[in-house]
Parts: sequence; structure tokens; C-alpha cells
Amino acid sequence: MIIAHTISLLRDFLDSAIQNGKSIGFVPTMGALHDGHKSLIELAKRNNDLVVGSIFVNPTQFNDPKDLLNYPRTPELDYAVLESAGCDLVFSPTVDEMYPDDQLLELNFGDLETVMEGQFRPGHFKGVATVVSRLFNITTPTRAYFGEKDFQQLAVIREMNRRLQTGIEIVGCPTLREADGLAMSSRNIHLNAEERKMAPLIYKALLFAQNYVRSEELNNIKTEVKLMIESFEGFKVQYLEFVHSETLQPISKWQHQKSQRACIAVLTSKTRLIDNVSL
Ligand code: PAJ
Repeated sequence: MIIAHTISLLRDFLDSAIQNGKSIGFVPTMGALHDGHKSLIELAKRNNDLVVGSIFVNPTQFNDPKDLLNYPRTPELDYAVLESAGCDLVFSPTVDEMYPDDQLLELNFGDLETVMEGQFRPGHFKGVATVVSRLFNITTPTRAYFGEKDFQQLAVIREMNRRLQTGIEIVGCPTLREADGLAMSSRNIHLNAEERKMAPLIYKALLFAQNYVRSEELNNIKTEVKLMIESFEGFKVQYLEFVHSETLQPISKWQHQKSQRACIAVLTSKTRLIDNVSL
């Protein structure tokens, strides 16, 4: 696997590959890789000639400087994970390489970026769109892979991609879970032992919602889901929304043959966990 810290090294590799007609799968990450990330690389490997991964802890998407500082950085371990999953090149730039000046293209996503996560992380999705649009320009992939775990991020990126008319195919990938149902996340290491034991409650409660959404009032389901999760006193539901999968606007009633999603954020002592299921 090639490790490229600069755009020019990355382009040397990709230009000849593209001239030879190779398709390129791209998987952007912020490192601290786990099996969820690995599953994206493996899927990209199955459907493309070459796979490019990136590791970049993107400062423009953090609204809390402490959060940015504390973000786990484990490059050597990450390279090993990427290589074992079949990644051909990892792009791991410095902040200066990604942001040589502070002229940022600002995109507005309206309601898509203000609901759910947007309420609690102002500016977050603008930062994500900024870095992903730059990474798309730099890596010019055929397909790019994103996890459904971050469902709102996936919706924002699809919208950005439509507007910029990049021609890149965006592939949404299912959430990988621990054996007990907890969605894999770099943040899970911040759970204490008791929180970790209780964390599968979140997915269980979402599956309850999935089960009853056809027959019960949404408000009753919401109340029940919150009660289930907050039965453990260390958890607080920050939001629970039933939304349209594309617009992310709340639904008042489940509709047959429409794509809908239940999305949740839960506060724990040191971190917040997000998860979602289809409805
Ligand atoms: P990061 O949190 O490192 O996630 C990288 C990719 O892995 C995202 O597409 C995310 O949805 C996916 N992912 C995380 N946990 C997963 C799981 N349990 N199952 C499947 N996929 C999972 O998301 C980001 O980085 C950044 O915002 C980024 C897009 C790289 C822009 O900076």
C-alpha cells in the first residue's frame, strides 16, 4: 500500500491508473479505524480496480476545539487496517496540504444541515461538505463509500454531489455492529464499563420502533423508546426523529413504500452516540 502525504504523490499514482482505464473506489475517514471502516474498504475493493482511503482529522467540521484536540490519532494501526482490507493507497495529508489558504467554498444545505445533528453541531456539515468536495477533486474517484451509521452526513453528501455534478457514484454502506448490537464507532472507547454494558439498549429500542411503526402512533413509540433507553440513568436521549430518508424532514405518520428512518442521539457521561434504522 502506498502512503501519500501530498497531492502530487497521490496524483502520480492515480493519473497513470486512470489512463489505463482503472476504476477507483474512495473511502474518506478520520482514522482511528475499526471494522466498520474496514467494511467500507472491503466493499470498495470488490467493486473497483483500485481503492484509495484517506485519513484526515478535518478541523473545519469540529465546533469544539477540545474535541478536535482529543480526537484519537493512531496512524500506524490505521495503515495496517487499511492494508489488510485491500487498500491500494492511503492519502494522509497535513492541514496545510488540504487547506493552503482560508478561501473556503461555502455550501448551504438548508433544512438538511439544521435538523438533528445540525441543532447540536452548528457548522459541522458545512465543514464535512468542504473537506469531502476537496477530497473528491483531489482523488477523482469513480465511486465513493459512506456509512449509513452517519445517516445525515450521507444525505448531505448526496445533495452536495448532486449540486456539484461530480459524476461520482455515492454508495451508502450498512452499519457494522458489535455482536450485542452497538453500532461500531471511534467514540465507543469513551464509554465506561457500565455504559458499554447498557449501550445495546439503543439499537434494541430502535428495533422496537421499527417493529411498531406500522401499527402505533409515532408519539407513543417515541415515548416508549425514550423510556427504554433512559431506564438506565446514565443515558439521556438528545433527539429522536422519524424522518424522510432523503429530505430528513420529520414524518407525522409512517407511509407504505416510502423510505423513512428513525435517527437518535444519546448522551452518556463523556460522549454522545448516534444510531439509526430504516422504518
Ligand atoms: P469517520 O467518522 O472516520 O467515518 C468514516 C466513514 O466510516 C464514514 O462514512 C462513516 O459513516 C463510516 N462508518 C463509521 N462507523 C461505521 C459503522 N459502524 N459501520 C459502517 N460505516 C461506518 O465520517 C467521517 O469520518 C468524516 O466526517 C469524513 C466523511 C471522513 C469527512 O471528514
